[in-house]
Amino acid sequence: MTAKLELRNVTKTYGKTNVISDMSLTVEEGEFFVVLGPSGTGKSTLLKLIVGIEQPDKGKVFIDGKDVTRLPPNKRNIAMVFQNYALYPNMTVYQNIAFPLKMHRIANPKQKVIDISAKLNISDILNKRVTQISGGQQQRVALARAIVRNPSIFLLDEPLSNLDARVRYTARSELKKLQQELGQSFLFVTHDQKEAEALGDRIGVLHSGKFEQIATYKDMYENPSTPWIGDFVGDFPMNFIGRMGFRPEWTTVGSGEYSMTVDSEESIGDVVFLHGSMDDGNRMILKSTVREKPGNSIKFSITRHIAFEQNQSKSIA
Ligand SMILES: Nc1ncnc2c1ncn2[C@@H]1O[C@H](COP(=O)(O)OP(=O)(O)O)[C@@H](O)[C@H]1O
Ligand SMILES: [Mg+2]
Repeated sequence: MTAKLELRNVTKTYGKTNVISDMSLTVEEGEFFVVLGPSGTGKSTLLKLIVGIEQPDKGKVFIDGKDVTRLPPNKRNIAMVFQNYALYPNMTVYQNIAFPLKMHRIANPKQKVIDISAKLNISDILNKRVTQISGGQQQRVALARAIVRNPSIFLLDEPLSNLDARVRYTARSELKKLQQELGQSFLFVTHDQKEAEALGDRIGVLHSGKFEQIATYKDMYENPSTPWIGDFVGDFPMNFIGRMGFRPEWTTVGSGEYSMTVDSEESIGDVVFLHGSMDDGNRMILKSTVREKPGNSIKFSITRHIAFEQNQSKSIA
């Protein structure tokens, strides 16, 4: 089967900055793929290259097996939802959603707008100006405008990050449900690890213009391919003793060959995370069931670890 989207060795430079560097990626039909990376790592640039707003310096972009690298955006049949939604402020909700249909002279625009609005639960606001509706509603309108012309793939640039926490959680689960109903490929970018975990069939973590690892969240947490991933992925960074990396819960606290002096503790539910350092100053976070006072010295053993290669640096550049 042909991949829905493929990037082959794509490079994009702004001035002297290599934002995207020899990047390759395959997104399968029907896949919810999440690109995760801190701000400024090139997530929006990546989407612009795929949609055709920007041109790569090197490399190729394929949609449904077809080389679209030199095609203008309107010939690529891709829908993009921007972070700020980019709705037309002087138009009503209805006019916003109908706009791409008019642009592409698609038949039966009215029925299509009505159908998609029902699906996204915005039928009752079709006559409102987009400036009169809430952030959550704007997000739905932006989605409706993207879906209405039945594109080949959806690109979503942090579409939930402008929403309040409550609305964001609801919007997140609705988005996942919508993608499953549509059965189409979504390429979703975010800086939010929890969002990536909740949404992504697979996640690609961006670092230095490339994917440091592409895997499910669970795989990445359990088997980070590099110390950098171990450090970046998870509620807590991975612990390291030399080239040995281990998660806070991959330890037994109370006895063992290692010792740590506790400097603070964090209770989350009925588990305790002990923060401290070993004699050589090496910082540790260990999961425990018992609380410890700052200053206490505790023993621990390591029940599972990952042995990283010697030349892999863990520092987050
Ligand atoms: N049009 C541009 N001209 C010059 N530099 C840019 C341009 N667009 C983005 N950049 C730079 O490229 C880097 C990545 O930006 P961006 O793709 O917006 O990151 P993200 O979406 O992950 O926050 C940043 O350092 C940004 O300043
Ligand atoms: Mg961005």
